Amino acid sequence: MQFSFETTVRIVDALAGKGLGEEIAVHGWVRTRRSSKSVTFVELNDGSCMSSLQIIFDADSPVAADELERMQTGASMEARGTLSESPGGRQSVELRATEARVIGEASADRYPLQKKRHSFEYLREIAHLRARTNTFGAIARLRNTLSMATHRFFQDYGFYSLHSPIITASDAEGAGELFQVTTLPLDELAAAETQLDYSRDFFAKPAYLTVSGQLNAEIYACALERVYTFGPTFRAENSNTTRHLAEFWMIEPEMAFCDLDGNIEIAERYLRRLIEAALRESSEDMQFFDKRIRPGLLNELEHLLASDFTRITYREAIEALQRSGKEFEFTPSWGADLQSEHERYLTEELYNGPVIVTDYPKEIKAFYMKLNPDGETVRAMDVLVPYLGEIIGGSQREDDLELLKRRIDEAGLDREAYWWYLDLRRFGTVPHSGFGLGFERLVRYLSGMQNIRDVIPFPRTVRSAEF
Ligand code: 4AD
Ligand code: MG
Repeated sequence: MQFSFETTVRIVDALAGKGLGEEIAVHGWVRTRRSSKSVTFVELNDGSCMSSLQIIFDADSPVAADELERMQTGASMEARGTLSESPGGRQSVELRATEARVIGEASADRYPLQKKRHSFEYLREIAHLRARTNTFGAIARLRNTLSMATHRFFQDYGFYSLHSPIITASDAEGAGELFQVTTLPLDELAAAETQLDYSRDFFAKPAYLTVSGQLNAEIYACALERVYTFGPTFRAENSNTTRHLAEFWMIEPEMAFCDLDGNIEIAERYLRRLIEAALRESSEDMQFFDKRIRPGLLNELEHLLASDFTRITYREAIEALQRSGKEFEFTPSWGADLQSEHERYLTEELYNGPVIVTDYPKEIKAFYMKLNPDGETVRAMDVLVPYLGEIIGGSQREDDLELLKRRIDEAGLDREAYWWYLDLRRFGTVPHSGFGLGFERLVRYLSGMQNIRDVIPFPRTVRSAEF
């Protein structure tokens, strides 16, 4: 038997009836094997869907008994036979094998994935195998659905996909949470306790992994009008929470000739489109999440699609929190960032749905956000959702040269380093806006998973970068 794209049927297609009544070949990994006196059943999974295909070896099967014995949980195998309707079984179809062999053995008692339900903590330690479980297979497929839906959404609205750089010399958020990239011999330098001489470094100056593609997206939006980036971003935030990663993926659209209202409009449509795509295109996996991960998930998402997003200013949010009569760990007050507990109150209790908070005090937001006429607040927007909190952060950008220079100074940043960013305001400046959606926050929200480490294939967090 040989592998061929033409003759192999993916299990998702076989279960939908492709090749029914015909001779087909399938490949995959054994989930379980049961034997009675005369029949052996193997549940085969190839990751193309949650369900496995039942392979049947009956009394007159030509497959040898010792080969059947090798079909243990975790082994890889191929099977050929006639795809037929399953009489009264749980599944619609089954494969009566006429030929089958194990490709790679796995000893069932040493295989780290046993039939019992493993904890997510344990599965994180075997991230090289967890993709073979129902949960992590479903997460991988959901990520695929959501990334394709992202490209389709922005393409439909006339955006161009932009590849922004991963190595950068500027701090796009001005928050100083950067991973440095260097070829300097750090060990030697540390031993010699010398001063760092950046002229010897690869870029002849300090360089970092990007925290956001936004500033580069602004350059292209000021030429192509609508662009979006979908790339990895890196933050050396020392926050050990269930919603922070050191490496995560972000989608950042940027639009010229667009103010904060237009920005909010696109963000809301995009979020709705993502939810629809998950429900429609990943329905089997979403049903699994609803049943096994977070009961009520599907109802909540349907409810969200049917409801309006609430829009309030930061001032209104603070007032609502103060009026709430709730005992918060962090007392809500003007000028303080909204904490997770505040976001939860607003989305889960007060408004029971997504909340878009705008017009934050300039002190707690990035230097590039457009100053309001009050001189105190900026045209920022955060989209908050129940059970997660912030999923999107964005703003209208400062397009006035003098105001932007002042904001860079106030933020304690070096104007020189942003000369090209300032140039965009010197030559053909234009009102423009954009936002960033954290892809793993999205996947966590739509799957109902508790921990962001379990919705990315290989999580990188403080003190942890295995696999
Ligand atoms: O709010 P943030 O920091 O905004 C920006 O980076 C802007 N440059 C976006 C823009 O306007 N183009 O991050 C955007 C989103 C957050 O709302 C959150 O969903 C996600 O990125 N995010 C993280 N996700 C996982 N781990 C982290 N450490 C994250 N930090 C932010
Ligand atoms: Mg933010």
